[in-house]
Amino acid sequence: MQISMKFSESGSISSNCNKELLLPKNLNDSASFKELESLIGLDEVKKTLAELTAYSLVQRKREEKQLKTCPIVMHMVFKGNPGTGKTTVARLLGKVLNDMEILSKGHLLEVERADLVGEYIGHTAQKTREMIKQSLGGIMFVDEAYTLSQGGEKDFGREAVATIVKSMEDHRNNLLVILAGYSSEMNRFIASNPGLKSRFPIHIDFPDYNDDELFQIAVHMYEERDYQMNNRCRWKIKQHLAEFTRCRHPHSGNARYVRNLVEKSIRLHALRVVNREYLTRKDLLLIDDTDLPDMGTI
Ligand SMILES: Nc1ncnc2c1ncn2[C@@H]1O[C@H](COP(=O)(O)OP(=O)(O)O)[C@@H](O)[C@H]1O
Ligand SMILES: [Mg+2]
Repeated sequence: MQISMKFSESGSISSNCNKELLLPKNLNDSASFKELESLIGLDEVKKTLAELTAYSLVQRKREEKQLKTCPIVMHMVFKGNPGTGKTTVARLLGKVLNDMEILSKGHLLEVERADLVGEYIGHTAQKTREMIKQSLGGIMFVDEAYTLSQGGEKDFGREAVATIVKSMEDHRNNLLVILAGYSSEMNRFIASNPGLKSRFPIHIDFPDYNDDELFQIAVHMYEERDYQMNNRCRWKIKQHLAEFTRCRHPHSGNARYVRNLVEKSIRLHALRVVNREYLTRKDLLLIDDTDLPDMGTI
């Protein structure tokens, strides 16, 4: 699906007959939006982000015409297993919001519990505030955020959460916070923190990729690096990814697994050809099935 949007004469969002959202002109040229669009699958994610960005733009246009506005709270929860694209999407979203002049810098600061939680009283607030400071103008992406509530009543994780919430109010206009992690853990985390529920109204699910999507991701990754698979290699990877999705577990890595496979095969390809006297363009381009690592070792 295309994540593009169009505004009708009245300023509302209109869909064309294919139910595609057409992008407003100024965002159509945004390289970050195109990159987001080029990600494999993630249709629901793209749709939600298209709605949010369209909504923000329309609010701005309404403000210009002295119509009532209702600013949207953009803080989000990204729920999904590792390798489902959460960090990638967050990074691109930062750039898109920067293109739209909603965030002044649009960078992503990825933090985890150890970056936020300190060892003595007062240390946590200090560490967390430092991370917030570095995130201003962009996105603070808290990975495995549920670990902030796993230490019980006396754990400093709670102080980190309280400090984040306070900073979100203080920097309402120039900071986006995204909490990310496994779906069930994140649901529990948000449910057990009454203060978080209303402050993080947007929840986006990142489902596991199916074997076809993982294969398309492999093609995309080779293309990005200017490599191609030959037919035997394509066939072998397809077989392998079908097997991988049949017996995977939540930690097996989704697209990250594919990235490891692609990168390893590129190194093995280099080893195969490095000592040849003469290398054609094709020799340098094509990954053969013999370049694939033993699949159990990835
Ligand atoms: N839909 C996708 N299309 C192409 N590449 C993807 C896609 N999803 C993830 N990737 C790639 O897979 C790797 C892992 O993704 P990442 O965003 O780090 O996952 P997560 O943050 O959910 O663990 C990255 O190299 C990323 O570019
Ligand atoms: Mg990540």
